[in-house]
Amino acid sequence: MTDHRSHEPLARTAECGRLGEADIGREVVLSGWIQRRRDLGGVIFLDLRDRSGVVQVVCSREFGADAFEAADQLRNEYVVAIRGDVVARDPETVNPNLETGTIEVRARQVELLNRAKPTPFPIEDGIDVDEAVRLRYRYLDLRRPEMQRTMILRHRAMQKVRSFLDRHGFLEIETPMLTRSTPEGARDYLVPSRLHPGQFYALPQSPQLFKQLLMVAGFERYFQLVRCFRDEDLRADRQPEFTQIDIEMSFMPLDEFQALMEQMMAELFGDLLGVEVQTPFRRIPYDEAMLRYGTDKPDLRFGLEIVDLTEEVRGCQFRVFRGALEGGGVVRALNAKGCGTFSRKEIDDLGVLAGQWGAKGLAWMVVEGDGVKSPIAKFFSEEELGRMLAALRGEPGDLLLFVADRPDVCAAVLGQLRLHLGQRLGLIRDDRFAFAWVVDFPLFSYDEEEKRWVAEHHPFTMPRWEDVDRMETDPGSVRAQAYDLVLNGYEIGGGSIRIHRREIQEAMFRTLGLTPDEAKDKFGFLLEAFEYGTPPHGGMAFGFDRIIMLMAGKSSIRECIAFPKTASASCLLTGAPSNVSSRQWQELHIQPRTVSAKK
Ligand code: AMO
Ligand code: AMP
Repeated sequence: MTDHRSHEPLARTAECGRLGEADIGREVVLSGWIQRRRDLGGVIFLDLRDRSGVVQVVCSREFGADAFEAADQLRNEYVVAIRGDVVARDPETVNPNLETGTIEVRARQVELLNRAKPTPFPIEDGIDVDEAVRLRYRYLDLRRPEMQRTMILRHRAMQKVRSFLDRHGFLEIETPMLTRSTPEGARDYLVPSRLHPGQFYALPQSPQLFKQLLMVAGFERYFQLVRCFRDEDLRADRQPEFTQIDIEMSFMPLDEFQALMEQMMAELFGDLLGVEVQTPFRRIPYDEAMLRYGTDKPDLRFGLEIVDLTEEVRGCQFRVFRGALEGGGVVRALNAKGCGTFSRKEIDDLGVLAGQWGAKGLAWMVVEGDGVKSPIAKFFSEEELGRMLAALRGEPGDLLLFVADRPDVCAAVLGQLRLHLGQRLGLIRDDRFAFAWVVDFPLFSYDEEEKRWVAEHHPFTMPRWEDVDRMETDPGSVRAQAYDLVLNGYEIGGGSIRIHRREIQEAMFRTLGLTPDEAKDKFGFLLEAFEYGTPPHGGMAFGFDRIIMLMAGKSSIRECIAFPKTASASCLLTGAPSNVSSRQWQELHIQPRTVSAKK
């Protein structure tokens, strides 16, 4: 076997996955990893893989005696360079499952560039391996074609976004990573300062304040593909560090801004997935989203909407519904079309799920030709049943599912039940992309624990002009000029028009219970900047990892990040977070209360 130690490795002249019939007759040098080796006695077949794909290499004494000997030594994931001739395959050996399946390469020379240990899992798509093992050996996991495809998609999407925003006059400007606490409302990651004992930088939860300063600075259109850090409970769509497409602009009406963002999404999905995205996107007021879908990030790929029956059942004899209404609650329901065939056990199981989501119970009726079948049917008059069926468009064969509770509980339970049934009944098409803006969010929400009003978005969000006068008298009724972009049940972006007038900002702080001194302490630099001529401005940030997750058809953003963290925010590859030396503690003027036993 030729060994490259004594000379330069053979220089690559072609890529495995790009070879085709046009190359027949060419001599090529390929480099890559051994995907598979099959020894058929006198002939050894190698599947050679590089980033572009896989090609079959044939080794036999006839084509190259040394090459054949060398091939005998190869194992999976060995790195090799191979010189050989591209030939057509016999019609009966054509492999339709392989891009390069009509040709193969006859090896004249095989050069071993490096050996590899047996890998902890096969380097191929669709493996069934514990995610912890994949994360521990992420560099091997990333070798798998599906991971490569996702990372390539991510790269392309980044370039598309950059070029779109550049074409539309946006400037990419970087903002600090070591900064002060920002107002997104999660817990900060803090970095102790060596030079300033007892003081800390915060890693940015977003560049929010800086991008507003850039508007004061006159840049008018800013964007950044930027890492953000939030120490919050992690889920499939949440990482402690994640990437935003962060955008801010001045002097542009909201509807024009939204149209531009829609165009960016349409180009992204159109160019990279060949999906035709319809614009303008649907706009759904927050209250309506909560009522009809039970969530502020509705999956609009299917119907199965929630129906409010509070008025229809008012005055009925059913103790549970009456009790809920008397306590200020509501009664809402779903019509599971055609599910009247569910067994009693299946219906009871739905009740158990509803209980897990927070319901006290799940009442049900099956619609039949001559009425309804239900343990609670006897509590309703013909007329009441008629009204309920009409509101739910109940037809024979339908299963009606009811929850009576506080509006937020009904929304949460029926929202989950809607998704559950949507999936179970096959109503959700995974080749559809249903975008919508959720608008008219409340500006404030009331924190029952702390007994005070808090900003729903952040304290620089502009109220609707017609609601400004009620900011201090009736905060709960004030709607924000804020918007979320939702796609297939995920919030993929959010933003707002910002307050650029001092008196509105002051009213905001008063309602939030921030004294002028506290406001100055937290955001003094921004408020000061606002005194030097602030343009009307606004913007939004997209969750880039979530967009890629949806484009790639994955169910977790961890699949779309090269080196993600686990649900407990650790990196299984590097072992971060890790202990540091006592000298580092000292330099940073901090002391551990406990030192974990982790090595
Ligand atoms: P917001 O906090 O809504 O807005 O964040 C914008 C978008 O970022 C994504 N996102 C996340 N993705 C992964 N992991 C996380 N932990 C995570 N947190 C948020 C979501 C979300 O819609 N400064 C404002 C934007 C603005 O007002 O312009 C902001 O950060 O997709
Ligand atoms: P109970 O009399 O409590 O056994 O309830 C009678 C039926 O009403 C059962 O099917 C319960 O699941 C259902 N139920 C109980 N509480 C609620 C509720 N809050 N909303 C909807 N159905 C309920």
